Amino acid sequence: MDIKITVAATVPLQAPAEVLVLGVPSGAAFKKALAPLTKALGASLARALKRSEFSGKKGQLCDVPIHSASVKASRVALVGLGEADAVDAPELRRLAARGARFARSLNAQSLAIGAVGVSVDGGEAVLAQGSVLGAYRFEHYKTGERLSKFPLEKVVVLTTRKVDGALRQSVSDGQRVAEAICLARDLINTAPNDLYPESLAEYAQKVCADRKDGGLSCTVLKHAQLKQRGMSLIDAVGRGSAKPPVLIHMRYRPAGSKNEVLPKLAFVGKGLTFDTGGICIKPAPGMEEMKGDMGGAANVVALMAALAVTQPKAEIHGIIASAENMPDGEAYRPGDIFKSYQGKTVEIINTDAEGRLVLADALHYAVEQGVELILDNATLTGACIVALGPTVSGFFSNRPDLADRVKTASGLAGEAMWHLPLVEDLREMLKSDWADLKHVGDRWGGSITAALFLREFVGETPWIHVDIAGPSMANKAYDVYAKGGTGHGVLTYLALIDDLIKNRPAQAAG
Ligand code: BES
Ligand code: MN
Ligand code: ZN
Repeated sequence: MDIKITVAATVPLQAPAEVLVLGVPSGAAFKKALAPLTKALGASLARALKRSEFSGKKGQLCDVPIHSASVKASRVALVGLGEADAVDAPELRRLAARGARFARSLNAQSLAIGAVGVSVDGGEAVLAQGSVLGAYRFEHYKTGERLSKFPLEKVVVLTTRKVDGALRQSVSDGQRVAEAICLARDLINTAPNDLYPESLAEYAQKVCADRKDGGLSCTVLKHAQLKQRGMSLIDAVGRGSAKPPVLIHMRYRPAGSKNEVLPKLAFVGKGLTFDTGGICIKPAPGMEEMKGDMGGAANVVALMAALAVTQPKAEIHGIIASAENMPDGEAYRPGDIFKSYQGKTVEIINTDAEGRLVLADALHYAVEQGVELILDNATLTGACIVALGPTVSGFFSNRPDLADRVKTASGLAGEAMWHLPLVEDLREMLKSDWADLKHVGDRWGGSITAALFLREFVGETPWIHVDIAGPSMANKAYDVYAKGGTGHGVLTYLALIDDLIKNRPAQAAG
């Protein structure tokens, strides 16, 4: 089932694969990068380049027919990378994803992937990642003719470096991180009759049990327990459903780090396995997409699985609040007032703003763990998609230096995220006549008031909130993403964790 990925220092045209995809830079480096190919393919390459007006610019593709018996591939495609010195890891990841999609479109089962005329640190590992991410398809519910008959089975990552144990390991780790991201996609794509809070909890427990040696463990607070602990907001959101809500707590410590003192971080996810809107029910068109309202939770599961591979020197808590938001005789309603786990009382205004409620209790639970940083991520507001479009996440932080770090991490990861402000003037909209807080403001600045509401529950803990409502699902394949669940966010969080370990924030170091 898994793709077999190897790394080889082969001359590209000799790579043992049905399809060869090569990234080529534009500008001054273009000619030189193509010299070995020009030598081997001669006029047929020249003709193909001319016909496709290929000059190595980003997004360009040149399909070269191969008639030579000395070339192993039956099809060679060149993909433009743009200016050589601007080519980075995300660009190579995208290249490999495009290569994998190209191979799949041809029903080819083996692919050789590489880049000529550029050199990127760790390029081989991201090529492996991109291959897995691009080849991903969710076929769990398909049968017979609908199943792909020729899945991509083999990928050869081409390198100009010496192939040693360390390089093989980094390629294999790259592959396993991408496979972890695909767990998030699987969860998002799973139908909501199969994925409900308790089945999500079982899945998380299995992910941790399978990676026990990687340092993962998991506990679950079932409905009775979370009610008993006073998590009334999670309970409120879940009470209209026949499927009870849960709180999932996953933990990671590097293997063999028993008594070491490590930086302690928490990643929190919104896990609405389905969001009808509740009593404030959503319109029918597009409601099926709300099976993906657990994208934040899926990212947390995927992140934990990836940590078992990358083994950073930190103690990391993955916390998921999961519920199904349904209309029912028992459902919570506008006007209801609940006491949050943290203690503040909340007046319910719109039962479709349920994500911030389950997150409020989960955030306080994270604070209780004594972590030095909390990052929550959630498919929280349609307003965020209005603001930034469907491919960009919005993020907020109560610490400006942390916001800068998220920006940098998202750039390294190639995941588009934009810093949005916690506009203090809007805090007024959350004042309630009857309780400590209302959970919804008016229409304007909907992502900001949601973030301001969450802020009420993190106290002084340095905190980041990422609204992934847009990019968590894709309506068509693009970048490294397949149609459906994307796992957008996980690579950024991995980069952020690396940065937090290397350069601990000032207020946390002491
Ligand atoms: N899960 C939705 C947000 C969402 C919308 C995610 C579209 C992905 C795509 C969230 O629970 C929601 O319904 N938010 C409301 C809030 C409003 C009632 C204040 C929204 O955005 O309309
Ligand atoms: Mn909702
Ligand atoms: Zn929702």
